[in-house]
Amino acid sequence: NGGAAGGGDAANYPDENITIVVPFSAGGPTDTVTRMIAGPMAAKLGGKIVVQNVEGAGGTVGAGDVARAKPDGYTVLMHHIGMSTAPALYKSLGYKPLEDFETVGLVTEVPMTIVARKDFAPATLQDLVTHVKANANKVTLANAGIGAASHLCGLLFQSTTGVKLQEVPYQGTGPALTDLVGGQVDFMCDQTTNTSGQIAAGKVKAYAVTTPERVKSLPDLPTTTEAGLPQLKVSVWHGLYVPADTPPEIVQKLSEALKVALADQGVIDQMAKLGTAPVPAQDATPDAHRAKLDEQLATWAKIIADSGVKVS
Ligand code: MLT
Repeated sequence: NGGAAGGGDAANYPDENITIVVPFSAGGPTDTVTRMIAGPMAAKLGGKIVVQNVEGAGGTVGAGDVARAKPDGYTVLMHHIGMSTAPALYKSLGYKPLEDFETVGLVTEVPMTIVARKDFAPATLQDLVTHVKANANKVTLANAGIGAASHLCGLLFQSTTGVKLQEVPYQGTGPALTDLVGGQVDFMCDQTTNTSGQIAAGKVKAYAVTTPERVKSLPDLPTTTEAGLPQLKVSVWHGLYVPADTPPEIVQKLSEALKVALADQGVIDQMAKLGTAPVPAQDATPDAHRAKLDEQLATWAKIIADSGVKVS
């Protein structure tokens, strides 16, 4: 085949294991979505896919590793909205999203929920706003590090309510949710792909969803608009990436395999149970994904600059 560490030539691709890097802890929302599609993608590609969690710095460590990986199609990145916010949040980010990656295709767009530890006093979102305004520096807000979706939602919550909370960073919202259920931290904004189970089990208090419409699988949860915080709207789009200069035929094979995974009934059903759905096939393409990334980089650069958050 075409040289060491992977075939390199598209015709035989894949002729060894493919690694999908998840830049957050195992068991969190990004990891969950990745492991849902890995099986059907591997079947279509006729190879094996290994999911590897590379944590740290709100997803920027894992993303940086993939930016520097060999462009041979054997190292893939699953990332989300954080790919478009990190450049506005980090002074020296180790990669440039549009230059150091090829987009493979969009995967899904996931609503966020605002959830608190079970015995946290505020009963509704409005009560939460009143509570944080009166007790800002005593309230702890969990997230998965600067650049994470949970961090971004927390940023929007703080800028719309005008408070500065005590942020508690984790390597992913999997471990953060464990601490929330354990009562070690007060509240968090996290994706339905992670929080749905604990909400259904009554292990956390849920205030709202951050989407314009209610989430079918969480029908009792009001939207932030219904609950009086219309500006707090965010949903977490996800996409797959490979290092820049990966041969286009390999990118195409990965995009085709992604489309097959997103049409898999098991994936559709699992996503529906967790409050989300695959993107339409035409969005699981390199061009559609690149257009989304382009637009989101500009959108969040402005919102983050206007929010006055300090850049790390
Ligand atoms: C986040 O951005 O909050 C991540 O999705 C958390 C995670 O996947 O663990």
